[in-house]
Amino acid sequence: MARLTGKVAVITGGGNGLGRACAVRFAEEGADVVIGDILDDPAARTVELVEALGRRAVAVHTDAASAADNDALAAVAVDSFGRLDVLVTAAGVSSANYVSGDHAAITRRLYDEGAIALDPARRFTEVSLDEWNRVFEINATGTMLAMQSAVRHMLALGTRGSIVTIASIAGKHPDAGPLPYCVSKSAVCMITKHTARQLAGAGIRVNAIGPGFIETNMTAPLSEVPELGKRLLDGVPMGRMGVPLEIANTALFLASDESSYFTGEILHPDGGFFTE
Ligand SMILES: NC(=O)c1ccc[n+]([C@@H]2O[C@H](COP(=O)([O-])OP(=O)(O)OC[C@H]3O[C@@H](n4cnc5c(N)ncnc54)[C@H](O)[C@@H]3O)[C@@H](O)[C@H]2O)c1
Repeated sequence: MARLTGKVAVITGGGNGLGRACAVRFAEEGADVVIGDILDDPAARTVELVEALGRRAVAVHTDAASAADNDALAAVAVDSFGRLDVLVTAAGVSSANYVSGDHAAITRRLYDEGAIALDPARRFTEVSLDEWNRVFEINATGTMLAMQSAVRHMLALGTRGSIVTIASIAGKHPDAGPLPYCVSKSAVCMITKHTARQLAGAGIRVNAIGPGFIETNMTAPLSEVPELGKRLLDGVPMGRMGVPLEIANTALFLASDESSYFTGEILHPDGGFFTE
């Protein structure tokens, strides 16, 4: 039997990259999926990919930072498919004005704001409050809100659910991203550990994936800015970036009963970057 037969998964950020890879991999294993994303066209494409595998899917326009949107997203799972077993919180941004797929803007920003740069102290003093707040509200607050919305349904339905948050090695290592991003991902790690303890008695497991550098829209500029890409890959013992399927397989393990004794854990598929 497939590993998620009869399960319904909600995936935030499911329109691209890691979220889409999870949606497709989960569908291959028998799940129906609900995609929440701020970009409608990529989310609709994920729905097509899932349906092509013979599973049901629906996309819901969602701003991860909105409590109302997260409530609506979770409600669609229960209203459309009758249950909500798995949540993956893959919606995320590397900077406040990040738009998945707009590679040129991201690359320009890396130069403009000195990511490759010369003067790290200046870079710190120029982190704006708007930048800090927006990155935090999508990555960290958005994770917590999606979990609250899903857990309300899991508790009401008596579902022994599994929640997989997407943190990052940047949550543990300062070299893996800009300050607001790293701090927001540290928060995702603590949200995961804290809620794992709170929800264990209800039979709901919460685990995180802290990926290394994975080939998605978010990291596409690394190949366009060779000096930055080389610097980051120098810290990866396996000497290559990961691919979304490697994260989706990790998420599948955490989402399924194969990980039944895991909760509050953070797994790092990262080619050996983070070995502590
Ligand atoms: N790619 C990597 O190397 C890497 C490494 C570690 C962690 N991550 C994390 O993995 C997650 C997925 O990133 P990815 O690499 O697949 O990037 P991606 O750009 O391919 O996908 C991110 C998705 O999140 C969506 N999104 C962004 N803001 C949103 C919002 N406010 N509300 C709803 N959806 C929103 C985007 O539209 C996009 O579909 C992110 O949380 C990212 O921080 C990525």
